[in-house]
Amino acid sequence: MPTPSDPDQSQAQDPQAFWQERYAQSHSRTRGKAGQLLQDLVAKLPPGRVLELGCSTGDDSLWLAEQGWQVTAVDISSHAIQTATRLAQAAGLLAQIEFEVCDLTQAIPKGEFELVCALYFQSPFDFPRAEILRQASAQIVRGGHLLVVTHASGPPWGEQHKKEFAFPTLDTEWADLGLASEAWEVKEFKLHTRLARGPQGQEAEVNDNLIFVRRR
Ligand SMILES: C[S@@+](CC[C@H](N)C(=O)[O-])C[C@H]1O[C@@H](n2cnc3c(N)ncnc32)[C@H](O)[C@@H]1O
Repeated sequence: MPTPSDPDQSQAQDPQAFWQERYAQSHSRTRGKAGQLLQDLVAKLPPGRVLELGCSTGDDSLWLAEQGWQVTAVDISSHAIQTATRLAQAAGLLAQIEFEVCDLTQAIPKGEFELVCALYFQSPFDFPRAEILRQASAQIVRGGHLLVVTHASGPPWGEQHKKEFAFPTLDTEWADLGLASEAWEVKEFKLHTRLARGPQGQEAEVNDNLIFVRRR
């Protein structure tokens, strides 16, 4: 976590400005494809309404819409949402996706959902993430799913990454969600290892916390 005295984080005291700056940099505009865990787990579900928290430039939103989901996708950065909207328009998917610039610490989109996704919804700032996840999970209908994936480690080349993320454990993630075990069926609860690729093409294994649950 950066502290207020971190010189290279001087502009980072305002979360909105930090993420705007991040998405103003061309190299981080889009991954160009949806996350593999999302694809593996959600492809098996019947499509419905999905809420995506911290959707970035919309790679996952576009894939969800392609699978037939009606997507509500929000991010604090208007740059990210503009890029996401442009990509969705180019792909002819805008009718299925409602992109919204939204600071989730202030408001969460209303409605009921068959799926809520929080994919690497992490920030260098202290923010009420657990509260946001709890509120959003309360909007999941019976039979609906919650998918939470978090960075649990960083690659060796990722000094910035290490600064930015607190790397929660599975157990702290679970405690933060505050899900009553009688109300939720646990479908996945594990540390998942994947291969990350660095800026020079180097590769390293990194871990993600994966929590995938279904409301009974
Ligand atoms: C680490 S990125 C992950 C983005 C994307 N879900 C992914 O899998 O690559 C975290 C995202 O959360 C967004 N974010 C951070 N704080 C937020 C807030 N308070 N409200 C809404 N979005 C926020 C950021 O703009 C950023 O796009």
